[in-house]
Amino acid sequence: METLDMKRLPKHIAIIMDGNGRWAKDQGQDRLFGHYHGVISVRRVVEAAAEIGIQYLTLYAFSTENWDRPAEEVTGLMTLFVDTIAKEVPDLHQNNIKLVFIGNLGMLPEEARAALKNATDQTAQNTGLTLIIALSYSGRWELVEAAKKIAEKALMGAIEVEAIDESIFAENLATKGFPDPELMIRTSGECRISNFLLYQLAYAELYFTETRWPEFRKENLVAALLEYQSRERRFGKTSAQIQQI
Ligand code: FPP
Repeated sequence: METLDMKRLPKHIAIIMDGNGRWAKDQGQDRLFGHYHGVISVRRVVEAAAEIGIQYLTLYAFSTENWDRPAEEVTGLMTLFVDTIAKEVPDLHQNNIKLVFIGNLGMLPEEARAALKNATDQTAQNTGLTLIIALSYSGRWELVEAAKKIAEKALMGAIEVEAIDESIFAENLATKGFPDPELMIRTSGECRISNFLLYQLAYAELYFTETRWPEFRKENLVAALLEYQSRERRFGKTSAQIQQI
């Protein structure tokens, strides 16, 4: 961690927490065992991100596609989310962490929605790390929702079609008010974005690691940050232009 350049940290890190099922299978256990161990990694990574000084951390906990998993796994995951949130909120609040949920939350069971609302309300005034949990989320769902919201505003005459630009579009996304992630991490060897933050990841550095999510710890996060700091971010410019800035 001493080798990190604290002046060049990303403000926002997004993570696809993958590999719980495969990790559990390797232990001869069922998939939910992997998800339960995944929660330990969530805790460690949230602690590490707050300690390092990351301002926003988005975790992909459940995609809209995950609803199609076996009913037993979906129910088990919902129970795990509700129990974990209820258990962790006091600690998160104590550490000044603000919890936000993004996704098609209307699809969640009533009990889960109540737990999320309670967690959001309790931590709303906190000013430290913003922890964004993507639940029942997909990038395409979010883009279609944004298009609908903008179309409605245009139909009502609240906005001119010609005035629609990237900033207006971003204001209609679930991530309104958050900076785009500069770093996206995916665990467990898969090299895909899988419908995650499709608009916001336009210029993110992508970091893929073989480490499975239940084994991901602070040192893995630091390794990703060191790799991020070794890359040159050009945003479509030339290397010479970037070095002049
Ligand atoms: C992907 O691994 C993981 C998930 C679909 C669930 C992730 C959820 C957690 C880690 C719990 C987080 C809890 C909170 C409160 C944020 P996979 O099942 O796709 O693994 P596989 O690819 O090896 O099958």
